[in-house]
Amino acid sequence: MSSVLIRGGTVVNADRAFRADVLCIDGKIAEVGDNLAAPAGAQVVDAGGQYVMPGGIDPHTHMQLPFMGTVTMDDFYSGTAAGLAGGTTTIIDFVIPSPKQPLMDAYRTWREWAEKSAADYSFHVAVTWWDESVHRDMGTLVQDEGVNSFKHFMAYKNAIMCDDETLVNSFKRALELGAMPTVHAENGELVYLLQADMKAKGILGPEGHPLSRPPAVEAEAAQRAIAIANVLNVPIYVVHVSCAESAEAIARARAAGQRVYGEVLAGHLTVDDSVYRNPDFAYAAGHVMSPPFRNKTNQDALWHGLQAGHLHTTATDHCTFCAAQKAAGKDDFSKIPNGCGGVEERLAVIWDEGVNTGRLTPSEFVAITSANAAKLFNIYPRKGCVVAGADADLVVWDPAGTKTLSVKTQKSLGDFNIFEGRTVTGVPSHTLSQGKVVYANGDLRAERGVGKYVKRPPFGPQFDALAKKTALHAPHPVSR
Ligand code: URP
Ligand code: ZN
Ligand code: ZN
Ligand code: ZN
Repeated sequence: MSSVLIRGGTVVNADRAFRADVLCIDGKIAEVGDNLAAPAGAQVVDAGGQYVMPGGIDPHTHMQLPFMGTVTMDDFYSGTAAGLAGGTTTIIDFVIPSPKQPLMDAYRTWREWAEKSAADYSFHVAVTWWDESVHRDMGTLVQDEGVNSFKHFMAYKNAIMCDDETLVNSFKRALELGAMPTVHAENGELVYLLQADMKAKGILGPEGHPLSRPPAVEAEAAQRAIAIANVLNVPIYVVHVSCAESAEAIARARAAGQRVYGEVLAGHLTVDDSVYRNPDFAYAAGHVMSPPFRNKTNQDALWHGLQAGHLHTTATDHCTFCAAQKAAGKDDFSKIPNGCGGVEERLAVIWDEGVNTGRLTPSEFVAITSANAAKLFNIYPRKGCVVAGADADLVVWDPAGTKTLSVKTQKSLGDFNIFEGRTVTGVPSHTLSQGKVVYANGDLRAERGVGKYVKRPPFGPQFDALAKKTALHAPHPVSR
């Protein structure tokens, strides 16, 4: 039996914060309460003056992803270890089948890659093409493998982009299975056209990246996906919402009673688009990800969306490529592998810019960094809540601790840090994963292969409500 007693802290859940000790036994939270006694042999963590929160859930990462002719620097071990150093104890990564690749083949490949994880992990599966076998495999994934969400890339033409026919078929199937459809919303046709347009104008550097992916291109796709979801009466989750126009599309649909959910990346909240005009290619290319970073007005809209409740989760899209990999696009920005890191920095950056500025309460911070993702992807309160019976995945948060974020000290294997030089106040002092202290005051004790695959059951609470609504509004013939 292994036990850890976290003593003297303030427990922060999404609904409230209160003084309590937290006792973890054999990987689970055994008790949350006042003046708990330490069992014999228990490790005691002093959390005086600190917060005890659910470990972060990053619902959008890409470890060991083969993408744009190369593979990300971080694999499932280094990426999850970096997460633990930053207080994130669960990732939901993506299985991305190549077009025509059977979904189950891709799924098995990713499951094998992920066995080296140091923290718990789960998978969304991308639907990149359509036929009867995809329909069947979606069923197997949901019913046998604990996948309850499917991803659709509306961008990346001639690669993994899916057309409206695939979107419609897959959304419909997801509804039948009780799984959440998610979309990367960018109009891939327009991106393709604008990329060619920029190159024809002699714009070959990274500044061409945001110019070929303006907010309107993102908003068109977000609106289309939301409209399709509305007609089919399926819930929909829009990943990495980066601009005001997309956030407004979500807010409008929600105001009209639709079940639409939005995710925001730590980078989109805090990094602005001036980075793409930096004269240093490596610096500008280091920030190339899709959708691109936006200006301050858009950043404000994302914060306001989180505050207002029409955006729900925060993630990183952690997808690290090094300078040598980014150099593939030295003479053509459209060949720069898309992706940036952040799994390690998300909590600290959002605490610093969110809680320290009064935009968010600590409980609201927990909602957008773990609880909401756990609810939407149906693993709450096993994850995302400090409560007896939950997994003992916790972060002890020192609100007075400071750190300057840098590639020099990051655990991630990338050679770039989009938050370079930013000094944050509010850092994890301890991270517990599966009831074990895996990070303590700078000392990372991540262990290869101990992370467990998290099965997520279908039919989260949204689905019953949707079924009732569908039944009430079912069309019926006129009897004559
Ligand atoms: O640029 C990005 N975001 N790379 C990873 C793939 C994706 O679009 O999420
Ligand atoms: Zn994406
Ligand atoms: Zn504001
Ligand atoms: Zn992504």
